[in-house]
Parts: sequence; C-alpha cells; structure tokens
Amino acid sequence: MALDTRDIYVTALKNTHALEMQALQIMERQVERLQNYPEMEAALRRHIDETHGQRTRLEEALHSLAESSSALKEGFLGFVGNMMALGHAPAQDEILKNAYANHAFENFEIAAYTSLLAIGEAAGQQGHAAAFQQSLKEEEGMAAKVRELVRPTTLRYIELSTAGEKADR
Ligand SMILES: [Fe+2]
Repeated sequence: MALDTRDIYVTALKNTHALEMQALQIMERQVERLQNYPEMEAALRRHIDETHGQRTRLEEALHSLAESSSALKEGFLGFVGNMMALGHAPAQDEILKNAYANHAFENFEIAAYTSLLAIGEAAGQQGHAAAFQQSLKEEEGMAAKVRELVRPTTLRYIELSTAGEKADR
C-alpha cells in the first residue's frame, strides 16, 4: 500500500511533536535536580522556553491540516527513551551522563527537523517551513552550547569530586 506525501508529513509532525514533549520532560527533570552546574542549568532553562515555542509550531501545523497532536507514536518515543535512559539513573557521574545524553538528544532533534523540512517540501506543505527552520536553528544552537559545555562541565566535575564536594549534579 502506497503512502501519500501528506500522510508521511503528518506522521513526521506527530513524531516530532512527541520528541519535543519528551525533550521537555527530560530537561525539566534535569533542571530541578541540578545544583552545582549553573551554566548547564541556564542553558537548559533557556532551551525549555524555546522548546515550548517549538511544540506550539508543531501543533499549529497539525491543526492547519485538521490533525490532532494527541495520537503519539509510542514506538518512536520508546526509541528515544532508551537513548535517554542513560542520563536518568542517579549516579556519582550523573552530570556527565546527562551532558552526553543532551548532546545526543539535540543532534537527534537536528536530524528530525532536517527530515521534517524535506518531507514538508516533498508534500508541498511550505506554510510552516520558516517556523521549522527557526526550530532547527534553535536545536543547532543548543547542540553547540551542550558541546561547548562538555569540557568545562567535566573539569568542574573533577574539581568538585576531588575536593570531596557534591559533584554528581
Ligand atoms: Fe532541543
């Protein structure tokens, strides 16, 4: 059975929406646990705000196609969930695992928006392209920020750990 490009586009919108809902959960959980890494916390808080806007853009696109954003793809969420489980377990080096997981997650989102833009184009749905370009730019910005924070975060982790201070998060 052949799919039409509109169906492919709707599925991509729903998957990306599910991804952003999960992004919010992951970042909100991290932010409420973080204590000793203010730069990571600030980056996450800023990106939580951006992510609310990204979610709204996806919902507007779905509504414009008379689709609801409620029917989410559990399999897709499961895949991302497995990747992120890495960052969730309380551990002495929780901050490092979260940094790696955030780096992976933002790059996953970059791929998702790049793909969504290509699908929207193929489906002749250019109406929301500028909005999704903006979301892509925000994901690229956060990916770069997380990347930039990996080294200083690691050095701070070492400093706190070796001083016998709270270093895990
Ligand atoms: Fe993101």
